[in-house]
Amino acid sequence: MPKKLRKAVLPVAGLGTRFLPATKALAKEMLPVVDKPLIQYAVEEARAAGIEQFCFVTGRGKTALVEHFDIAYELEATLRERNRVEALAQLDAIRIAPGSLLTVRQQVPLGLGHAIWCARAFIGDDPFAILLPDDLILSETPCMTQLAEAYARTGGNVVAVVDVPREHTNRYGILKTGADDGRLVEVRGVVEKPAPADAPSTLSVIGRYILMPEVIGHLAKMERGAGNEIQLTDAMAKLIGHQPFHGLRYEGKRFDCGDKAGYLEAQIAFALKRPDLADAVRAFLKHYR
Ligand code: UTP
Repeated sequence: MPKKLRKAVLPVAGLGTRFLPATKALAKEMLPVVDKPLIQYAVEEARAAGIEQFCFVTGRGKTALVEHFDIAYELEATLRERNRVEALAQLDAIRIAPGSLLTVRQQVPLGLGHAIWCARAFIGDDPFAILLPDDLILSETPCMTQLAEAYARTGGNVVAVVDVPREHTNRYGILKTGADDGRLVEVRGVVEKPAPADAPSTLSVIGRYILMPEVIGHLAKMERGAGNEIQLTDAMAKLIGHQPFHGLRYEGKRFDCGDKAGYLEAQIAFALKRPDLADAVRAFLKHYR
């Protein structure tokens, strides 16, 4: 039996330059889709997979992300006075248990790999999940639950993957694949942002991972990769051949909410799934053909 998955690292120290000016003073992960900030979707997805302990890798100006999961005394007292039972229950459900949310500072955004290395004391000797909150996934079964099931079966590293058009391989980490049952793919290699002509496949890694703690030892070497950043992909590649490593073609649709068009599409897709909003959204969309 592989060790139970209890920990998640949420890197939120990026600068969000693709979303300026909104992200000048506001963390990208606090942008709402319908009525919930991106970070809340990520925490809820992790919880659904049985994760109990969270580490946010933050930077300057990101305090709202932590506040969001704390008690809001004045607000909650006012809601109580006004007998707003439903709103109170919603706030209650958001809260992370005392002591179960840690934050570490990345200080300088040197890349995703560096952000994960900053969480090394939290990770210790345990397997851990990574969720990039700006990748938002609409699915029947939460994406991290699907990965956790694959981890329980394979006992090793599992990353969520999706096929992308070949001309887009230079935006993602791309797999070199082995045995493939149509859903679970054996990973033989992984390359960060290869040119379309050099890409070993079109299967790209999205922002959901379950990794073994040994990846930290490779990150500690601080080797620079694509874009002169410390890349998580390069450290993951070093695990291949030493530990089980699989890609999972998850069920669901992913929206890149770090990109303006992706974010707008997510608003519409998520609103159309909401019984309280779907009819109104469908009605106004008719005017925009
Ligand atoms: P992105 O590639 O989306 O970068 O990071 P970004 O800085 O957030 O946004 P743009 O590209 O400038 O618009 C993917 C994830 O990795 C985190 C980000 O917060 C995001 O969740 N990240 C990235 C870090 O925590 N630290 C880094 O040094 C880089």
